[in-house]
Amino acid sequence: MRIVQILLAATSLVTAAQLAAQAQMAAPAVLTVQVNKPIAPVPQHLFGLFFEDINFAADGGLYPELVKNKSFEIDSHLLGWKALKGAAELESYLVSSDRPISASKNHFLRLSTSKAGPDAGFVNEGFRGMGVKEGAEYTFSVMARRGPGSITGLNVQLEGPKGEPLAQAHITGLSGEWQKYTAVLRPTATAAKARLKLTVEGTGTADLDVVSLFPKDTWGKRENGLRPDLVQLLKDLKPGFLRFPGGCIVEGMTLDNRYQWKETIGDVAARQPMINRWNKEFRNRYTPDYYQSFGLGFFEYFQLAEDIGAEPLPILNVGMACQYNSAELAPIGTAKGLNAAGPADEPTLDTFIQDALDLIEFANGPASSRWGARRAAMGHPAPFKLKMIGIGNEQWGPQYLERYEPFARAVKAKYPTMQLVSSAGPSPNGELFDKATLKLRELKADFIDEHYYAKADWFRQNVGRYDNYPRTATKIFAGEYAAQSEGIARTENKNNWDCALSEAAFMTGLERNADVVAMASYAPLFAHVDAWQWTPNLIWFDNLNSYGTVNYYVQQLFGQNKGTAMLPVQLPNGAKNGTDNLFASAVADETAGEIVVKLVNYSPAPRAVQVSLAGAKKLGKTGRALVMASDDLNTQNSLQEPRKLTPQEVKFAVKGPAVSYTLAPNSFTVLRIPGRK
Ligand code: AHR
Repeated sequence: MRIVQILLAATSLVTAAQLAAQAQMAAPAVLTVQVNKPIAPVPQHLFGLFFEDINFAADGGLYPELVKNKSFEIDSHLLGWKALKGAAELESYLVSSDRPISASKNHFLRLSTSKAGPDAGFVNEGFRGMGVKEGAEYTFSVMARRGPGSITGLNVQLEGPKGEPLAQAHITGLSGEWQKYTAVLRPTATAAKARLKLTVEGTGTADLDVVSLFPKDTWGKRENGLRPDLVQLLKDLKPGFLRFPGGCIVEGMTLDNRYQWKETIGDVAARQPMINRWNKEFRNRYTPDYYQSFGLGFFEYFQLAEDIGAEPLPILNVGMACQYNSAELAPIGTAKGLNAAGPADEPTLDTFIQDALDLIEFANGPASSRWGARRAAMGHPAPFKLKMIGIGNEQWGPQYLERYEPFARAVKAKYPTMQLVSSAGPSPNGELFDKATLKLRELKADFIDEHYYAKADWFRQNVGRYDNYPRTATKIFAGEYAAQSEGIARTENKNNWDCALSEAAFMTGLERNADVVAMASYAPLFAHVDAWQWTPNLIWFDNLNSYGTVNYYVQQLFGQNKGTAMLPVQLPNGAKNGTDNLFASAVADETAGEIVVKLVNYSPAPRAVQVSLAGAKKLGKTGRALVMASDDLNTQNSLQEPRKLTPQEVKFAVKGPAVSYTLAPNSFTVLRIPGRK
């Protein structure tokens, strides 16, 4: 009897779902796109990227140096290095400051042994191991010098996780002076967790510094180039801009720990490392070995932006350390010590303003200018055409506004066309947000940076956020956002389809309001699977492989189908975007001669739609649909299944200006229909 009841119940459930589906199929939702009434041009940089060195995004990620702490300059000088144990013949080693390479680079490794042996040396562990590929080439280099004794050379060995040799080289001819030695290593096998072993030959003392192992296969085959699979993933997003270097890293835990662009340019070997502010931020994702080498510094950043066709958008410190940490403030003064409570040599706001002006000159100045000459000397005589900068990261309160104002004034005075990004703080609403917005609009700020990390449903519910924003000269930069499956920055958060689909829904609202929202970027961008602090992230990687999350492919569909002119789109009966979990936006792509309609069906049932192209003429016969769909809202890509859910292209017939299409359950669809008017 009970079994019969269950069967009946199950049958009626199926029937209800089928009926709902049939109902939706039977009566297509009619949407109207006003093809002949474009609202405004789509901003050139609408969808872009946010880069921050969090989750090992730079060292251990995009910046492919394999040696951790190559110069022994990190305050814990042997971090990443281990003396060989067991049959070690090493008598002593110390990090010495005796006649260093330079006054600023005054630590190096001094090895002494009186008995030659195969274990007289050190290993470097890399960044959670070193990823090396069979047959690929890696340039080993070291600064070395011979001390007392008869050290004849240096053995360089790449070995696998079990100690198996993968590649070796031999350095000879050490002299009593510091000299650079190089060798090329070609591993005989691929390994994700290799390590570098350096041992001395003979007895006596040898000094080692600036130890590097760098892949030859970099983006553009540059010597200090970036990891190519990761750059390719960025480029494939067709990003409009590249925000850098963050994020809270701009601010630092203290002002001393802030990001200082001048320390990140010039000779790579001379750049001083600094503790990464994410090192100890999250107790449950503690990464005490997290430092910044700045091998990927401001020059490499500008070059990357140029390579991927993105407008550079540097975010600069406004004289404020992270307000979640020390909240230290630089005094507002015109000279060191003036109006300042602190010591005479502490930086005042002027220091920060000058840094910004100098950065603009570094990017755009002629090669004859002071900072332009530094750029030219690094190999880029042509300007980088910097058009915008951000003043402060995620700052709030009166302390911010009173620093922003003179800062912005000084930049505009010298560079009137420079576009400035200001901050609305960490929260997208509330008193601080409202006050900042009001004041920044009053100051006619070019862009206000709004951040939202919230649960997936917030994104769907707030699709209309910008519908009633005032259309003033001040535009919005949605500078950091991501749907959080469990809660803000919770370690259990997942890059799942529910979050990505909700972001897609929200982004239809951004696209519909692109006359007020000029830029938007998902955050954070990168994460190492073995070394992350924050999740979710757009792209994940290990030492060898990488993949785009389902959120990544949503961003890609928007980036690649941005179009050139915003078109009005109406839901059935003039309903609000998102009614009945149907979301839509539309643009014209005047270059391709196509109408592009984006549709999100956040519902477990298929949905028939009829897209009525009002004012359309000369339509082609076949359209292309780019579809991401999954019945399971928990679907995720991974290193094992990197393309589990990606856009699939299908063709559909265009029989006239009323285009019929059936949206799959839980789907994001981009319809590209040939013909404009
Ligand atoms: O994206 C991670 C962090 O979130 C950023 O560093 C900060 O700006 C925001 O709070």
